[in-house]
Order: sequence, then structure tokens, then C-alpha cells
Amino acid sequence: MTGEPVRTYRIALIGGDGVGPEVIAGAVSVLEAAGRRFGFSFAWQELTVGGIGIDTYGVAIRPEDVEAARAADAVLLGAVGGPKWDNPDAAVRPEQALFALRGGLGLFANLRPITVQPQLIAASPLKPELLEGVDCLIVRELTSGLYFGKPSEQRETPDGRAAIDTLWYTEAEIRRIVTLAFELARGRRRKVTQVDKANVLATSRLWRKVTEEVHADFPDVELEHRLVDSAAMTLAKWPAGFDVLVTENLFGDILSDEAAVIAGSLGMLPSASIGTRVTQHGRHGLYEPIHGSAPDIAGQDLANPLGTILSAAMTLRWSLGQPEAAAVIEAAVSGALDDGYRTKDLLPAHPAGAEALTLVGTREMARVIGDRIAI
Ligand code: IPM
Ligand code: MG
Repeated sequence: MTGEPVRTYRIALIGGDGVGPEVIAGAVSVLEAAGRRFGFSFAWQELTVGGIGIDTYGVAIRPEDVEAARAADAVLLGAVGGPKWDNPDAAVRPEQALFALRGGLGLFANLRPITVQPQLIAASPLKPELLEGVDCLIVRELTSGLYFGKPSEQRETPDGRAAIDTLWYTEAEIRRIVTLAFELARGRRRKVTQVDKANVLATSRLWRKVTEEVHADFPDVELEHRLVDSAAMTLAKWPAGFDVLVTENLFGDILSDEAAVIAGSLGMLPSASIGTRVTQHGRHGLYEPIHGSAPDIAGQDLANPLGTILSAAMTLRWSLGQPEAAAVIEAAVSGALDDGYRTKDLLPAHPAGAEALTLVGTREMARVIGDRIAI
């Protein structure tokens, strides 16, 4: 008797720059371990994208790379960028790869879950009592707003140089992301905080109106509007009060880095960028840690791979229809932390208690987690 053919998922892999390739290698080994345990496999396709794409091909990403990312079941990305390509006057920049993928693949929703692993409370600069019960989801609009609005350029004027960026949102763009936020809140604590600057910006006032309209279809979900300055303050003062936060592109970028401090280290946090397209296995999406390329520690086996490994778990849940395997990876991450394994960024701010911990590098952390999955 022949068994069912092993299911093979096609994943586009973008290691990128700095620590990107190291954290991606960790996530790949953990996904392989999950595949062995649950009976599926992966066909990896590595793409040369970001600063390394500029060095190799002269552009951050080629059209055929975007097509390969589209053809895959999901995309796993490490990080792009670094000081080598930081010249503000350069016509090609590594970050252009992100915008080509986000815009080109229609990934309008960026989901950034912020949770606190109890074992890491000492690693957060916030008071322990503020961290209890923190479990929020930032839903950031990703393909419009200031990042995509045109014109965006520097100009010469009779009064000297000037520059312009354009903040533009259509009601359809607002409606689809806000609807997703309400849907996701239904699977959580049923509260949506919509963040804007409605006392100043016309776009923000449109966000408020459209959010109110969408809310009519979700009467079981509580809605609050909050100005972005107040939201930033409240995130530091009482983060447990938030459930789902939904906001425009730039505010979401800023608030998610702020929220990351709560989790103890930027290195811990995963993200998913999704659109409406579904493949035979789930939603098509791009998964990456929230942290950047960390060039100062690149190539030294120092980077924390957990944000990428948790992004791999999100890949299994959202794009590949493997929620059980996702949960096993998440449990393995908690288990490794319970056992005291820490990358350098996760050591407590105060040395007291650190003696019970085991300092490990990127590879060792991924190995410890893979071993737990294999059991
Ligand atoms: C992020 C990053 C990017 C962004 C940068 C690298 C362009 O900060 O994904 O949050 O601003 O979107
Ligand atoms: Mg950012």
C-alpha cells in the first residue's frame, strides 16, 4: 500500500542583509524539524534581494524575484539594508525591495502580535506589573499612505530646497484593513482601537468615518478611537489595555517598534503581511521578524532567531494550513526560554538571576528549538 504523497510547500526565502541570512537559516531548520514531525516537506527557493541584490544585480529586487515570491505558497524574509547602502541620494536602496513585494503582491495588512513571554519579563525595561496580561495585535496598513503616495521628492525652489511626501488614503483602502481588524478582534478580546491624528489630518478623519461605518457590521466588537500621540503614551503606561490596534502605515511602523520594547527585545517579535489572495493551502503572505538587519552583530552568531522562528510559525498558521505545527513551534520557543536558553539580547537588564541562564548563539538557539520539536 502506498501512503499519501508527502505534501510539499513552496517557500521563497529572502535572507537579505546583515543578520538576515543567519536568522533565516535558523527558521529553515525549525520548519524542517516541524515537517519531519508532521509529515510535510518544503521546496525552498532562495532569492537574492536587498543590499545584496544591489551588489549582485544593480537593483534591490528584480521583477522575476517578485514573480517568484508570488508563485510561492509564502515568502520568508530575514532583513534588508545596512550602512553600505545608506546614501540618502542613491537611486537604488535595499528597502525598495520591501515596497516592491508589499505593493506588488498586494500585502495590505501587516499583523504584528505583541505578547510578553513570562520568562522574559526581567529583560523588559518596563515595570513587571505593567507587563501582566499584555496581548495585543497591531494591524498596520502596509501598501498606502506616506510610503506610497505620489509625489514624493525633493525640489529646488526660489527659496531653496523643499521636499514633499503625499499622505493619501482611499475609502476602499481603509475599509479592507479595518474590516480585517474587526474580524481578527472577534477571535480575541473583541476590542479595536483605531489610531489616528484626526484633530489635524484629513486622512485621519476619513479613517474615523469609514471605521465607524464598518463597525456597524461588528456590533459585538468594542471600538475606541485614539489619537496617535495618546496611543504612544498609553502603550508605555498600560499596554495590557489594548487588544487590536488598527492604524495607517507610518503610525503603525512607529507604534510597533515602541510596542516591541514591551516584549523585552525587538528580536522576539514576528510579523505577517497578507492580502486577499488565497493559495490551495491558505492566504498568500510574507513573514519576517520586526527587527532589522543589525549590521553591528552580523556574521557573529549573535542574533536572536526567535522573531524569525515565530514568523515561521505564523507562516504555517496563515499560509500553509498547519496550525498544529505552528503551535508546536511556539511551544518549543517557550520551552527553550523556560529551560533558560537566552541569546545575548535576552539577558536580564540586572545581572541578578542571570546565573541560571545559558547564553547561546543564533545556531544553538535554533538547534535547541528544533530538538524540542523532534520529540
Ligand atoms: C518595518 C521597517 C520598514 C518600514 C523599513 C525598513 C522601510 O521599519 O518593516 O517596520 O518602515 O516599513
Ligand atoms: Mg519599522
